[in-house]
Amino acid sequence: MQIRIRRGWEIPEAHATPEAVVMARRSLLGAGAGLLAGTGAAQAQWLSPSRLFQAPVKEQPRKPLAAARNARFVAGRDITEEIHATTYNNYYEFGTSKSIVAPAQALVLEPWTVRIEGMVANPRTVGLEELLKQVTLEERVYRFRCVEAWAMTVPWVGFPMAELLRIAEPQAGAKYVVFSTLADEKIMPGIREGFYPFPYTEGLTLAEAANELAFMAVGMYGKTLPPQNGAPFRFITPWKYGFKQAKSIVKISFTDKRPVGFWEALQAEEYGFWANVNPAVPHPRWSQARERLLGSGEMVPTQIWNGYGTFVADLYKGLEKERLFA
Ligand code: MTE
Repeated sequence: MQIRIRRGWEIPEAHATPEAVVMARRSLLGAGAGLLAGTGAAQAQWLSPSRLFQAPVKEQPRKPLAAARNARFVAGRDITEEIHATTYNNYYEFGTSKSIVAPAQALVLEPWTVRIEGMVANPRTVGLEELLKQVTLEERVYRFRCVEAWAMTVPWVGFPMAELLRIAEPQAGAKYVVFSTLADEKIMPGIREGFYPFPYTEGLTLAEAANELAFMAVGMYGKTLPPQNGAPFRFITPWKYGFKQAKSIVKISFTDKRPVGFWEALQAEEYGFWANVNPAVPHPRWSQARERLLGSGEMVPTQIWNGYGTFVADLYKGLEKERLFA
């Protein structure tokens, strides 16, 4: 993910950015320029596990999760090797690099509680373990498409978001669900930096959340999620760009007002509420026509709704005037 620096004369003096933040943003844009230009170094990072370039990391143990694969969801692509999906990450709370496996190990995963609040029958805080007793875990292999034009195919373990709605019991007037994620400056250097609008939040309409593709994940590759991929609890909406799919969720709120997500708050011209995948709608600064598969580095055509149109296209009938694809 990248941001655009406004020119100095576009903001009042009172809003001038501190030097440290400017320097942080410069290094971010520098990294992004490499990504887009496809320099040798950036290419190598796609082709090889980023772990090869890092000092060995003692990772938190992951528990095995028994869950039958749901055959209804066929990705039509090879599953990405686990080492690639778990070492090339976006998790800005731990830094802007793709290689955040080491700092992310500081996440304390147990006990984990989730606050359910806003327009619901009964606002409450539930332990994740308690929540999981009320659902049946399954495995789903989904394609995943990042707005940065890389993609992977992952066997997630979790349960339908529709089940979460059933448990949360939103009130009749609720229209949106908003997921807020952990923001703990003691363990998250990105938060201490003070530049980004944390906590990371993302929202969906209740119709999107009730769609059968929308999924709450607690695991991947037959084990609990690793910290870097959003342990212990994140959501997956495979027809949308990856930035919608919030990690390490601690709060789920229901509201009748459309929420402004993390990236929309930062850069509304580039990242909006809907963020559905469409190869024909370029990002203002790069094409979305093709995507690079993590691991092989192969470039393949991107599909509208990331190929999940039969499940989700009807959700957007009558909304054609909205900015559905950014
Ligand atoms: N959730 C939180 N809390 N913080 C983040 O920085 N990054 C998003 C999304 N969820 C992010 C997040 C982005 S930009 C992407 S592409 C995906 O997580 C990456 O998920 P992955 O690292 O499991 O591939």
